[in-house]
Amino acid sequence: MEVRFAKENELDRVNELRKQVNDVHVAGKPDVFKPGFCDELKNFINVIRDDPEQEIVVAVMDSVICGFAIIHHINKPENPFMKERDFLDIDEFCVDEAYRRKGVATSLISFIKDYAKENGFHRIELNMWEFNQGALAFYESVGFETFRRYMEIML
Ligand SMILES: CC(C)(COP(=O)(O)OP(=O)(O)OC[C@H]1O[C@@H](n2cnc3c(N)ncnc32)[C@H](O)[C@@H]1OP(=O)(O)O)[C@@H](O)C(=O)NCCC(=O)NCCS
Repeated sequence: MEVRFAKENELDRVNELRKQVNDVHVAGKPDVFKPGFCDELKNFINVIRDDPEQEIVVAVMDSVICGFAIIHHINKPENPFMKERDFLDIDEFCVDEAYRRKGVATSLISFIKDYAKENGFHRIELNMWEFNQGALAFYESVGFETFRRYMEIML
């Protein structure tokens, strides 16, 4: 398996995987997520591609793009409550259903960790939805720890 940055002609395939994540979110939190994969969501891949603070990472197995991640350099300036925060955020992350439990996501995280270290980041963050217990088990398996929670009461 090869993990590397995406090429221009691979973005349609990345969008197929982006739709898979969206479908997972729609199924798990239908009160929040819109079903389908509208043009605005599809075309957002071009915004990501053109943003110097974001990179699209892909995993390739047998010439097939089987997983991807969007990584995003975030800088939040100091404010009265908090110190400056500078970190690498994983904005989107998915492995094709047909390629799961083969270590693809673990390889993507390993690539992202190496990239973060090489580029002077000391912290990688991500956020996820509580219903997604499979993703939680995966993130914990590669060393992520929960440091903050969102809570709700449905009325
Ligand atoms: C979560 C996801 C990225 C994991 O990808 P993957 O390539 O299957 O993960 P790996 O094969 O590297 O898994 C490594 C370890 O993580 C854990 N793990 C992975 N998926 C798991 C699951 N669904 N349930 C429980 N543990 C899981 C296991 O310990 C696994 O090791 P094992 O297979 O030897 O038991 C993939 O299931 C996915 O894309 N899900 C849908 C999209 C999604 O939820 N994205 C995250 C949005 S925040």
